[in-house]
Amino acid sequence: MRSISTFAILIAIATGLVAGPSFTIDATRPAGKVSPKLYGLMTEEINHSYDGGLYAELISNRAFLDDAKSPANWSVVKDNASAATIALDPATPLNDKLPTSLRLTVTQATKDHPAGVANSGYWGIPVHPKTEYRASLWARAKAGFSGPLTVSIVSNDGRTTFSSAKISGLTSEWKKFEVTFKTGNVTPTAQARFAITLDQPGTVNLGLVSLFPPTWNNRPNGLRKDIMQMLVDLNPKFLRFPGGNYLEGNKIDERFPWQRTLGPIEDRPGHWCNWGYRSSDGMGLLEFLEWCEDMHAEPVLALYAGYSLEQERVKAGPDLEPFVKEDLDEIEYVIGDTNTTWGARRAKDGHPAPFALTYVEIGNEDFFDQAKTYDARYAQIADAIRAKYPQLKLISTIADAKLDGRKADMVDLHDYSATDDFLKKSRNYGADINRRGAEIFVGEWAAHEDAAVRPWDTAAHKLPPTPTMKSAIGDAAFMAVMERNSDIIKMQCYAPLLVNVNPGARQWRPNLIGYDALSAYGSPSYYAIQMFSRNVGDEILPVTFSGTSVQGCATRDNQTGEIIIKLVNPELTPQSLPVEINSITALKSKATVITLSANPEDTNSIRRPRNVVPITTTLSGVKPGFTLTLPPYSVVVLKLKTR
Ligand code: AHR
Repeated sequence: MRSISTFAILIAIATGLVAGPSFTIDATRPAGKVSPKLYGLMTEEINHSYDGGLYAELISNRAFLDDAKSPANWSVVKDNASAATIALDPATPLNDKLPTSLRLTVTQATKDHPAGVANSGYWGIPVHPKTEYRASLWARAKAGFSGPLTVSIVSNDGRTTFSSAKISGLTSEWKKFEVTFKTGNVTPTAQARFAITLDQPGTVNLGLVSLFPPTWNNRPNGLRKDIMQMLVDLNPKFLRFPGGNYLEGNKIDERFPWQRTLGPIEDRPGHWCNWGYRSSDGMGLLEFLEWCEDMHAEPVLALYAGYSLEQERVKAGPDLEPFVKEDLDEIEYVIGDTNTTWGARRAKDGHPAPFALTYVEIGNEDFFDQAKTYDARYAQIADAIRAKYPQLKLISTIADAKLDGRKADMVDLHDYSATDDFLKKSRNYGADINRRGAEIFVGEWAAHEDAAVRPWDTAAHKLPPTPTMKSAIGDAAFMAVMERNSDIIKMQCYAPLLVNVNPGARQWRPNLIGYDALSAYGSPSYYAIQMFSRNVGDEILPVTFSGTSVQGCATRDNQTGEIIIKLVNPELTPQSLPVEINSITALKSKATVITLSANPEDTNSIRRPRNVVPITTTLSGVKPGFTLTLPPYSVVVLKLKTR
């Protein structure tokens, strides 16, 4: 990373006439209003975004349903003087939603030689110092054993117990037990597991087993604090969920089952997710909505529209009706009054107040439907929504679709391009947009470094999960384009948002935020987005570049009069840029400059989370007609005070 002093040298100011490159901002003719919802987030279960990610649950395969043949991620705890076995026990289900349990049979155990079962978590159980953990489990025991059970977080080698608690009072009936326990001043580690042990022989069946660290806003069944902080820091105005492909599933029966994601976690069976693993559905519809609330962002709710990825589709007409009803019910859950069926259910789930909702999206990437049935499916779903909820704005997933004569208020365009392609197309982007047509939502986009390695290629798995500075340059160029055109591009969000960096955890690259069990970091692209989303004006000011490869955009904050300029230098050398602002005759001499600059291959990681981060400096001596020198390979936000 370059040092601040280098930046100070690189950002030089000169006044007077400069030949060569030019950059002009027309402050006299704003090109429209910046959409107040331009910067948002997109999310789905991919790359262990929730299970093993944002959703703070630490137990993997907590309902024992991940593998029908064996208790995946659970193992026997014993030593040379104790003995135990474990097995799935479908004959003793916890309830009708969770059709199996785990039978633990301890045949030999003492206080000094306990035996039991342990869960390995999502690539380890994170142990943090002075931290309270909340464990809950359902248990029943065979006659002759009533406890105690010891629940503990122990090191993988079994030598260190970081914290533990006792549970007693087991009977032959299913009963829920909850305990909290706190770690001492331990060194953080993820080389740990969660153990449930007996110090005498006995047979116990375990139902849903759960372990939570402290969560964001202390919500029960809540979200991981460090990742949430990073999301809040992006200042998102909306959250598009639950997908993406995760909405659709590979098959119709594997679509996001929003009704089965409600209520107590022991009533959630989870479902097979198209990205190759089972989702616990701990991150259910209410959790998504509360997540929005916690970020002060509005939901953009994607509704299943009768198409699933393996070319399964529901015929428009009577066959689609049950799915249309599902969609209407889902909207009712989000915004219905508490005297409606689903509004009442939301209240019962703990949230009587309706959520704010403006946009719903009908399906996801329906251009992949080879039978081309979207027009009729959209029309049927749109008619039903408009009849019941005329205030909602509807998003179509295909640009220029006929939609059987219906209108879309907005179209969702996805763009995964290489940095060089974004740089190329960003120059004149927007000239051909039909500004009288539907509003535009770029609901998924991201730059990857190499055009030959696309995000879904297996070759991408050989690369680190999060992108380098090269991607951040492409991302910033594209964001500048979207901001310049945000009179019509009303919303946009990068995808995918999250990735668990452990081998085997991911299905896609690049991703914005990486994490393991213990910590999280932002890619250079994360910081580029943060620089953009936290510095947005109200009016779009037209910009003209000539004789330079620098790209960018400018906006004005109407309250403060501040002019916010965003620039991207895609060259490996510094670029000097005379900055002309039409009609501005005076500028405060001090301006704020936020700079992200690094070599193209530089990046962040778990080990080096802050290798490439923005630096804020103050630029002095600013006057109309000044020249700004952009550091090599940089994204720069310049905030000029006009009064
Ligand atoms: O962002 C990853 C995937 O890309 C999304 O699930 C899908 O909508 C798109 O094809």
